[in-house]
Amino acid sequence: MTGPHLASTREELAALLQDARAQGHEVALVPTMGALHEGHASLMRVAREKVGTGPVVVSIFVNPLQFGEGEDLDRYPRTLDADLAVCADEGVDIVFAPSVDEVYPGGLPQVAVDPGPVAETLEGRTRPGHFRGVLTVVAKLFGLVRPDVAVFGEKDYQQLTLVRRMSADLCQGVDVVGAPTQREHDGLALSSRNRYLDPEERLAATTLSRALFAARNEASYGVDAALDAARAELRASQGVDLDYLVLTDPGLGDLPEEVPPGTEARILIAARVGTTRLIDNMALTIGAAQETNH
Ligand code: PAF
Repeated sequence: MTGPHLASTREELAALLQDARAQGHEVALVPTMGALHEGHASLMRVAREKVGTGPVVVSIFVNPLQFGEGEDLDRYPRTLDADLAVCADEGVDIVFAPSVDEVYPGGLPQVAVDPGPVAETLEGRTRPGHFRGVLTVVAKLFGLVRPDVAVFGEKDYQQLTLVRRMSADLCQGVDVVGAPTQREHDGLALSSRNRYLDPEERLAATTLSRALFAARNEASYGVDAALDAARAELRASQGVDLDYLVLTDPGLGDLPEEVPPGTEARILIAARVGTTRLIDNMALTIGAAQETNH
């Protein structure tokens, strides 16, 4: 199997995409920060489904602009060789792995994307500036790759929601596709951060997904029943320090006071397990029979 073409400059990337564009192929982008795992591989498969024989581009860039003070940018895992192997296995055509100078020539940008009010809730409350950094680099990647389709994991649901909003509000013309969260056999959502959990914390971490599944299983009885079921799971476990547990509409807005049966909703959770902050979320339907699981 031949591996993907590796581009580290804008010019190399443009040259690699030129033929595909000339032939009228659609281009898919999977933006990542590397340390690739099965969750990322599933995004690459969704990208391939979307563009068929068109090129799938995976970007690997640890974006300094989305790290706050005390969030250890230097310790973020950088595993390019292993990442290239994952991309090769998934038949990715191009890996774009630029340096910081290549993405931010002349230093960090003076003009950045304002992510708006949705960025001030949930993750944005504890990570000020994070989504400004995410949207700015994603906008740059959209500009450099000019994809027709970009695939993001539902695992980072607030990020996915904001990128969708940016593409629509700024008329970027990119079809932003959400790919389902991949889970371990016991429900834990796949995440690069799981590697920081010791065995005891790894066990405690399953509380997050158990709480979400419990909520989903009770959602037919209404919002309160769903939240109570999730809280009961959290109370029954140790070593999980809850940050938030919220039920929202699918766009992360408030649910109406009276929720009509059949309303689509999203439940989101964040908690610290040991020193590792984990997030997870799930779709559910209020007041309607749920597809049961776990
Ligand atoms: O989800 C990530 O890995 C990053 O936030 C992204 C979208 C690649 C932007 O740096």
